[in-house]
Amino acid sequence: MGAYTGLGVLLTGATGGFGVAVSNMLAAQGAKLLLTDLDQGKLDDLARGLECETICIAGDVCDPALHERLVKTAEDAWGGVDVAINNAGIAHPHWRVPDVDKDVARKVIEVDLLAVLWAMQAQIPSMEKRYRETGKPAAIVNLASLAGIAGAPLISAYSAAKHGVVGLTRSAAAEYARRGIRVNAICPAFARTAMVQAGIDASVANDGLSPEQAEAHVVRGVPMRRLGTPEEVAQAILWAGSPENGFMTGQAIAIDGGVTSV
Ligand SMILES: NC(=O)c1ccc[n+]([C@@H]2O[C@H](COP(=O)([O-])OP(=O)(O)OC[C@H]3O[C@@H](n4cnc5c(N)ncnc54)[C@H](O)[C@@H]3O)[C@@H](O)[C@H]2O)c1
Repeated sequence: MGAYTGLGVLLTGATGGFGVAVSNMLAAQGAKLLLTDLDQGKLDDLARGLECETICIAGDVCDPALHERLVKTAEDAWGGVDVAINNAGIAHPHWRVPDVDKDVARKVIEVDLLAVLWAMQAQIPSMEKRYRETGKPAAIVNLASLAGIAGAPLISAYSAAKHGVVGLTRSAAAEYARRGIRVNAICPAFARTAMVQAGIDASVANDGLSPEQAEAHVVRGVPMRRLGTPEEVAQAILWAGSPENGFMTGQAIAIDGGVTSV
């Protein structure tokens, strides 16, 4: 069925744009899914549409205890996590640096950066122990952003958090390169999900643009001049985590319609 057949995959942010696309692709490849997001009802709806083994646990990724519970659940069900995809995230309104709301900035750093650290702190010891005992390797894929490898005017706190995710990714990759765990980051830009749509809607509401003009404004710096699809990003996430991709670690891969090529 595919490289993921029989593998146990933990996915945060499962009911969001990339989360649903990743879940569908992994289910089609015969993976077993441990799905988490804020809303249990949405998780259950997602799982009902997937033809694979699923476990759904709602919770807030800012709570370190959630990650411990998720890893323990995977250990009990499958002997551990084969691939963890730390995908949950939030954006913030457009502000220049002096105007960034302090409470919002704290929240963005907590959800987009610290929660990835809490997740890896739960995932890595379990993955390492299993590797030591059985030789079975594992992989972590963190969702950073193009804003994690380049500055992002008007979303500076988000950009700072995502740069932090790239730093965590590279550091953990080097620490665990000989301990059976690959760690990579995917850095998308401008894919058509609720997160990007919220920015387009805000431009329509605040700047008097039509939806078409607002979208054209978003993609004006993208050589492909279009938004990406969630599926185009999801396939890169799967590739980064795939056991067939065994020599890649510590990378921050842009999926950006060519933005970083120019
Ligand atoms: N869409 C893009 O173009 C784009 C670009 C760069 C990076 N990203 C990153 O990709 C990831 C997924 O984004 P998306 O576009 O699918 O967004 P989305 O808004 O569609 O999905 C994000 C999901 O994360 C969940 N989430 C948010 N806060 C949470 C919390 N505290 N606890 C648990 N779950 C929480 C949400 O409920 C939602 O389901 C994010 O980390 C985002 O920053 C997206």
